[in-house]
Amino acid sequence: MLCVKDISGSTDLTGTDLKHYRIEAFIGQGGMGVVYRGRDTRLNRPVAIKLLSPALVASAERRNRFVQEARAAAALSHPAIAQVYDIDEVDGCLFIVMEYIDGRSVGRLIADRELDLLSSVEIAFQVVEGLEKAHEAGILHRDIKSDNIMVTRDGRAKLLDFGLAKLMEPAPAASAPPSDPLRTLTKDAGRTLPGLVMGTVPYMSPEQARGRDLDVRSDLFSLGVVLYEMVTGELPFKGETPLDTMHAIAYEEARPVTVVRRNLPPQVHRIVSRCLRKRPEDRYPDAETLASDLKRFKLDLESGSRTDLRPIERLQAWFDRMISSVPLGAKGVWIVAGVVVLAVLLLFTSFNWGSLIAPAVIGVFLYRGIRNRKKRLLADFAKKVSRMPSVEAVIFHDGKMTTVVKDAPASAFVRITGLIEEMNGKLFFGKPVAAEIASDLPAEEFQALIRRLGVLYVRTERPGEPPAGKQGKNKDHSFSGMK
Ligand SMILES: Nc1ncnc2c1ncn2[C@@H]1O[C@H](COP(=O)(O)OP(=O)(O)OP(=O)(O)O)[C@@H](O)[C@H]1O
Ligand SMILES: [Mg+2]
Repeated sequence: MLCVKDISGSTDLTGTDLKHYRIEAFIGQGGMGVVYRGRDTRLNRPVAIKLLSPALVASAERRNRFVQEARAAAALSHPAIAQVYDIDEVDGCLFIVMEYIDGRSVGRLIADRELDLLSSVEIAFQVVEGLEKAHEAGILHRDIKSDNIMVTRDGRAKLLDFGLAKLMEPAPAASAPPSDPLRTLTKDAGRTLPGLVMGTVPYMSPEQARGRDLDVRSDLFSLGVVLYEMVTGELPFKGETPLDTMHAIAYEEARPVTVVRRNLPPQVHRIVSRCLRKRPEDRYPDAETLASDLKRFKLDLESGSRTDLRPIERLQAWFDRMISSVPLGAKGVWIVAGVVVLAVLLLFTSFNWGSLIAPAVIGVFLYRGIRNRKKRLLADFAKKVSRMPSVEAVIFHDGKMTTVVKDAPASAFVRITGLIEEMNGKLFFGKPVAAEIASDLPAEEFQALIRRLGVLYVRTERPGEPPAGKQGKNKDHSFSGMK
């Protein structure tokens, strides 16, 4: 038989049965209870079982309210929402049976630095589509955070714990007036579940932190926090204590994502900052509007990521990469072939010191080729990006490559980032080149930048400004030793 100690996680329940659900393995513990992988022995399918902490559902009134909510959430069916199969109780302990998600949480993926811009936007887009469906049915999530979104092995995002946060709210009779800003934190959740408060506060909307009524725009705020976290690896609002974090949420502006990560396109800042506005009326009005903005942005990104290459083009690209990874490119391939032939010939002739001269000369050329490789790769990068209409200048200074762009579509950012990665991938040795993309710089900053040493490319004219004169394709600033 189960007891409170079991439910609170101090006893391993693996191998036991809860009604017709077999508990197979412990998955994890959150603020609301313990999650196990299990099996529905009637339907013979894998399930996840969440045993709710008894403290959360102590009063009968509260339990009924929760069960009602959970039933509404169970009625939701969408690929981006983890399906709730059942809600039941054993010995007064409530448990929720849901779809078992074989994958990793977004929180884990962020910690492992496995998300790039395109996958972050893809996840946010899938989640917001799920939210749209829930909001249409009149259900708010209330606890969107990176640990409540899982991504399956085949890249499907699944939102977990729909409506469960309702459990964290104080029971109506005991509640403080809605205007009490610390109600959610200190009176209830703070006392019973301190860990949860720490984990959840950074994703709260300002109205949630103040204990006000919530609507769909509160979920959109929290999703904005997750998107911010996915693209920068950092949370937008941080404080030493939950109270400090709540203060930041209510009164401080988050640092723009494009300041935290200089390579991000301005569009991602526009979307995230609109989600994170303090007043709900300044945010996206609904999930549908945010979904269509994310979709447009995603298409723009995809058009720059060249995932649409045909197999033959991929092969060609692979061959090009291989050729260019040999010093001196195609010439290098011939030289290597020549050395091999020579070595074979030497094997069949009687040894003579004079025969070493040819390989020695080739060796010197190869050494020079390798030594100058980084410079060549930088010049090659500058040449390729300079063909993009939105690129205004390329500067390599102090070991860092800065590409200046103006009015650049998101695809340009993806392309530039891709070229930087390609360049770093071809380096034989030495540190990878640090790179940043500076977008829409004010005229003075732009002028200051192109006066530095190491300008590899600068567009002759800036739209709306007089010709840059001497600075256009400036030989004076050319990179020393650059071909
Ligand atoms: N349906 C599921 N399938 C697979 N793993 C799950 C499922 N639901 C939860 N998990 C995993 O179980 C662990 C605990 O989840 P839980 O929801 O209890 O904690 P949390 O999300 O960190 O906090 P909170 O209680 O605020 O939701 C997490 O690692 C989560 O990824
Ligand atoms: Mg959870």
